[in-house]
Amino acid sequence: MRVEEDLGGGFVRLNIDESQARQAKHDIRCVEDIVLEALRNSRDAKAKNILIASCKNEKKNRSLVIIDDGSGIPQNLQEKIFEPRVTSKLDKFIIDEYGVHGRGMALYSISMCSHPSIINSHPGRGTVLMATIDTAKLPEASDQSSIPKLKQTKKGIEVQGPNNVLKSILTFNLKYPDLQIYYGNPSQIASVLYQRGIKEFDASNPFTDSQKPYIDCLSLAITPLELTKIAKNQFGLELSQRNSYRIINKEIPPPETILSLIPIKTSSNTKNKNISRSLSSYLSNEDLAQLDNATINVFNTIAEKYFIQLAEKPHFKRVGNTISVTLLLEKA
Ligand SMILES: Nc1ncnc2c1ncn2[C@@H]1O[C@H](COP(=O)(O)OP(=O)(O)OP(=O)(O)O)[C@@H](O)[C@H]1O
Ligand SMILES: [Mg+2]
Repeated sequence: MRVEEDLGGGFVRLNIDESQARQAKHDIRCVEDIVLEALRNSRDAKAKNILIASCKNEKKNRSLVIIDDGSGIPQNLQEKIFEPRVTSKLDKFIIDEYGVHGRGMALYSISMCSHPSIINSHPGRGTVLMATIDTAKLPEASDQSSIPKLKQTKKGIEVQGPNNVLKSILTFNLKYPDLQIYYGNPSQIASVLYQRGIKEFDASNPFTDSQKPYIDCLSLAITPLELTKIAKNQFGLELSQRNSYRIINKEIPPPETILSLIPIKTSSNTKNKNISRSLSSYLSNEDLAQLDNATINVFNTIAEKYFIQLAEKPHFKRVGNTISVTLLLEKA
């Protein structure tokens, strides 16, 4: 079945299916390769924002959700794109830093080693792609929690650390710095979606009846139950109701974009050269949270005198070389 022609002496001509299946195994050799191919696709689709949620269950299944605001895929092609040689890049044969591109093979290769599906996509509204991977079959870097370091060297910025998913994303983002890429667990990514979302909708169900990008539609949810349901059904993000409640109450801070999260260290001989990162971006979320607690404590002692109190937790925002804080007040 695998052979088109027996050439004798142990030589055969493989049939196309077998040859493609073998090539697919070569193309995708680890979880990080899946992430990279999805990123290339979102970039090709002219996305400005890409959100990647990643988590692993007890059975060692990695679940990845990649959400973008790119050009989207028509309904009738959403299964076909997982077949070999299906591409929209006929006249856009691309060579990027990672090699030749536009063969219509990446999603097919991904489907040979994982369970990918399009959860939502529509022309002009972006795409939500999900893939579940059995890491016993397709490996990934054993250390997924290390945060890579960026080092400014004479040759440019170097990414250091284990070759995990975050390092693949960061390396990609450095090549395409205009992309806003977010990475986190499903709750953190839901928090990004919820907080960036629009507040007024032109339809009662924006997922089916609106032309708004999907990434702007999660704020539709009002109750934790709704948020849990919409996150799961429209984005493949599994959230407990408890976490949905915390997202609505802004207790799960949305992660910053990848590039603003990770500070660039300078090697001594290149100090102060070519570095234009804002100073506020160096502060980690944990350190900001300390400011948060300290501000609440100091403010509470002062506010008592005036019979006022904080209506919600202080809101810190990194803006260039400043950190601004907003305190929303109410009568005590
Ligand atoms: N995020 C996305 N947004 C819009 N279209 C997408 C997205 N991901 C995939 N597609 C569509 O699916 C097609 C198939 O994708 P696939 O990655 O398999 O092949 P390709 O990108 O054309 O070439 P290559 O195999 O070199 O990656 C793409 O040509 C594109 O039209
Ligand atoms: Mg591709």
